[in-house]
Amino acid sequence: MAKQKNAVIMAHYYQRPEVQEVADFIGDSLALAQKAAKTDADIIVLCGVHFMAETAKILCPDKKVLIPDVNAGCSLADSCKAADLKAWKDAHPGYKVISYVNTSADVKALTDIVVTSSNALKIVQSIPADQPVLFGPDHNLGHYISQMTGRKMAIWDGACHVHSRFSVEALIALKREHPDAPVLAHPECKQTILTLSDVIGSTQALLNYVKSHPDTRKFIIATETGVLHEMQKACPEALFLPVPPEVTEGESLAPDQHIGCMCNECEYMRMVTLEKLYNCLLNESPEVNVEPAVAKQAIIPIQRMLDLS
Ligand code: 13P
Ligand code: SF4
Repeated sequence: MAKQKNAVIMAHYYQRPEVQEVADFIGDSLALAQKAAKTDADIIVLCGVHFMAETAKILCPDKKVLIPDVNAGCSLADSCKAADLKAWKDAHPGYKVISYVNTSADVKALTDIVVTSSNALKIVQSIPADQPVLFGPDHNLGHYISQMTGRKMAIWDGACHVHSRFSVEALIALKREHPDAPVLAHPECKQTILTLSDVIGSTQALLNYVKSHPDTRKFIIATETGVLHEMQKACPEALFLPVPPEVTEGESLAPDQHIGCMCNECEYMRMVTLEKLYNCLLNESPEVNVEPAVAKQAIIPIQRMLDLS
């Protein structure tokens, strides 16, 4: 059906394995934006979360952009509303606004440069050192970039509910039990997790690390577990040990759950199922649209990012 309709199915690495398997292209948020910008398909089906589909629509205003579940949001994107960003910006005249791609189109429209976890370091480094910066909405990523570049930035206090919840105690225990396993972490993790990690990078960078270490037999992974599907395909013999989340008081595990598989799945990403994907393509709905006036502003910082990547 996708071929008949000249549709391209794009999926983020955090999608369910069966959705990744039918996708024409799998990537991290930067790769999905780059691919959308270049596609000659008539329809883009974005198997991911809403901001990813919005970004594709902003880049391809003449194409039909579909998302299998329109309720697939993002806790991080939701932590930064455009009105609040506008007030922050107004309180900091002369500052450049750097926004993570995990933001709504309205927030991107108020932004100077968009970044993803793949290029945030390089893009912040490209900004003159005396230029004050507002960075948002991910506090952990902002803090990591600030440490790596040695530059002070005003950082928004947002976080991803999946990445900020990994248990430090559980990671220490895993390291003790598997001292030969490198720890791979996404920069959205809190600083204590990053300090205990050997490799810090975007989803694509972590996958590339696994691919370039075919002789390593064990890896400890502190990111959303959807990426384990591609990691396991790349290194079928290796053991991937996901860092479990903290379990807060009063929370309990379902009978068939063990702590290692709880909560390090993004429930928004997992809203997309094969059935919803099929129906979405069949009915060409739900469609994602962005108000043209917002899109006209939002494309500027996205294009700056693509030019600098
Ligand atoms: P990437 O930039 O690594 O794709 O991350 C996207 C995301 O949503 C992380 O939680
Ligand atoms: Fe958003 Fe976190 Fe889910 Fe990524 S994993 S889409 S940042 S809620």
